Amino acid sequence: MPSRAQLFENNKAWAARMTAEDPTFFQRLTRQQNPQYLWIGCSDSRVPANEIVDLLPGELFVHRNVGNVVVHTDLNCLSVLQYAVEVLDVSRIIVCGHYGCGGVTAAFRDKPLGLIDAWLRHIQDVRTKHRSQLDALPDDAARIHRLCELNVIEQARNVCNTSTVRHAWQQGHSVAVMGWIYSLEDGILRDLGFSAAKSEEVDAAYEAAIVPKREGG
Ligand code: CO
Repeated sequence: MPSRAQLFENNKAWAARMTAEDPTFFQRLTRQQNPQYLWIGCSDSRVPANEIVDLLPGELFVHRNVGNVVVHTDLNCLSVLQYAVEVLDVSRIIVCGHYGCGGVTAAFRDKPLGLIDAWLRHIQDVRTKHRSQLDALPDDAARIHRLCELNVIEQARNVCNTSTVRHAWQQGHSVAVMGWIYSLEDGILRDLGFSAAKSEEVDAAYEAAIVPKREGG
């Protein structure tokens, strides 16, 4: 494990590198941030939002929690969403899950882990909702894999159903909501086919993405 001193050393070296590449980089950022994207992802340390899409500080507004869950009573997530859409004026919201998600796996296996069980209950609701699709898969590995995808799609739809996004669409603001998933195995992002930029598109986007995939597909 790197020591605390090492982290400060790393930070100094990183700041020096950034300044060498662009001498006005930090000065510009102190004046304003102007992200075009809101990223809602998992807290997993292997899925760092900016690095995956190779964006600099200032380009991505980020909210992360265990299992990239969007709950209509979560003031934290809803506040990030509202601020991103209404104040920062982001035009794209990405819900990004990842295969091999510990939160999804624990939810699937109903493994007790403590306080977090209540949070993971939301993912268990996704599992229950799609039980027949999951049961049709050959084994638990395939079911967990698909549950990681289904969870993204459900949470992306939840984003669409927030008062913030509904209001933005009513007002004619351009906000697109997308569902993506990241693979720890090859570092590649995949589009799950959920994309909605107005209320009328949500149901069709959801239905297209949620349909059971062919085996191996
Ligand atoms: Co995860």
